[in-house]
Amino acid sequence: MKRRFRLLILTVAILSLLIVIGGCSKKEKEIPNDVDNNIEEVVDDTSSDEVEKNDLADENFSKENEKDEVNTDEINDSKTEEEIVEVEEVVEEYVVGELPLIEGGIKGVYDARGLKNTGTCINGFVIKTFADNIIDNYNSVTMENDMKPEAILDQTKSVAAGDLIVNYPDRTFELLDWAKENNMQVRGHTLVWHSQTPQWIFYEDFDTKKPLVDRDTMLARMESYIKQNFELLEERGYIDMFYAYDVVNEAVEDNGTLRNSLWKAIIGDDYIWHAFYYADKYAPEHIKLYYNDYNEQFKTEHVVALAESLKDEDGRSLIDGIGCQAHLYTGDSIFKYMKTLEAFSATGLDVQITEIDVSLGSWQKVLEPTDENLRTQGQYYYDLVNSIIEANKSAKTNVSGITFWGVSDGVSWRRDRSPLLFDLDFKPKYSYFGAAQDKDHSGY
Ligand code: XIL
Repeated sequence: MKRRFRLLILTVAILSLLIVIGGCSKKEKEIPNDVDNNIEEVVDDTSSDEVEKNDLADENFSKENEKDEVNTDEINDSKTEEEIVEVEEVVEEYVVGELPLIEGGIKGVYDARGLKNTGTCINGFVIKTFADNIIDNYNSVTMENDMKPEAILDQTKSVAAGDLIVNYPDRTFELLDWAKENNMQVRGHTLVWHSQTPQWIFYEDFDTKKPLVDRDTMLARMESYIKQNFELLEERGYIDMFYAYDVVNEAVEDNGTLRNSLWKAIIGDDYIWHAFYYADKYAPEHIKLYYNDYNEQFKTEHVVALAESLKDEDGRSLIDGIGCQAHLYTGDSIFKYMKTLEAFSATGLDVQITEIDVSLGSWQKVLEPTDENLRTQGQYYYDLVNSIIEANKSAKTNVSGITFWGVSDGVSWRRDRSPLLFDLDFKPKYSYFGAAQDKDHSGY
């Protein structure tokens, strides 16, 4: 019994030992995570120690670097992606009317790209209301209406003198003074035109109840008028500001025939030649003489033929340039327009964009100023101006300047078609940034 008891005790003891050993080995299995980590740390420490201590091979160093580079690249990549996303977001989310204007103005942008004259048309209202904007953006002005025949020809004085008399009203002098004070150059606009021209100039004694005068009388009146105009500008100290003059405006119909007007009816088809002949005779050399027209892309070859016919007896050209009004629509083909500018330039004459505005849609169907349509307009301005700059660079065109026909939609003669660079609240439009060659904000 005693022996059995001892055996039992021994068995229990062995079993207990086994349990303890089992428990220990179980613990060992649970620990290894920590141990392994510690071991790894130790290994890492050792290896970095080794790198430091042994100043280890470049290979290892560069491997480290590679590792670093990879990491850096990954970081950079992810940063770049973030930046791209941010840039895209900015482009998509900007509010065009709140963007700052281009530093140096449109004139700065054009000057840097070889376009000398950057203009707008002015009147008494805009020089008071938008003076700063005009001064910042343009270096040239055209009087919108105040140098047209109806503004500068004086019936009372003509009757008294028995000659067609030029007499600028005060408002014209005020505009000229403003231009002078602000170092603007001036495009003269315009001498011989069917529109905004008083009818009394064509009648005997300047009286519309009497018969029309004969050709010689009308030619004499034309000569006197053109002569006095340049003399007056000279006498009053304005002549140096003028660099270009629209001698004849809009004489060609879209079908190529000469437009009916009393100039043409009385003098004959060569009234244009005579106008240039007199302008060439009386204008100082520095003022370049232009034929100016609209829808020029529909009558290109007729305008070219007219320009080439304006030569004196010795074959010298009486005309210096062709003015393209560019009263366009977003639906008009830029490609076709560029072909016209190329054809005009191929004559060797200077070419100027003299009255650009780009209405929304087409003349048959004017579109509303929705964001989409205004973006299209911004792109149009960008593309057209860019095409001109590029064509000039490759000598396909000789466009020396661009004049916008007004400073904002609110003061445009086509305000119902939103054609200009600033909106009714005088906020910049996509078209402003397009015209100023800031593609990112031009509606693209
Ligand atoms: C426009 C003016 O902008 C308007 O204020 C005026 O009522 C009519 O004439 N071609 C020309 C410009 O040569 O003189 C015209 O200007 C627009 C068309």
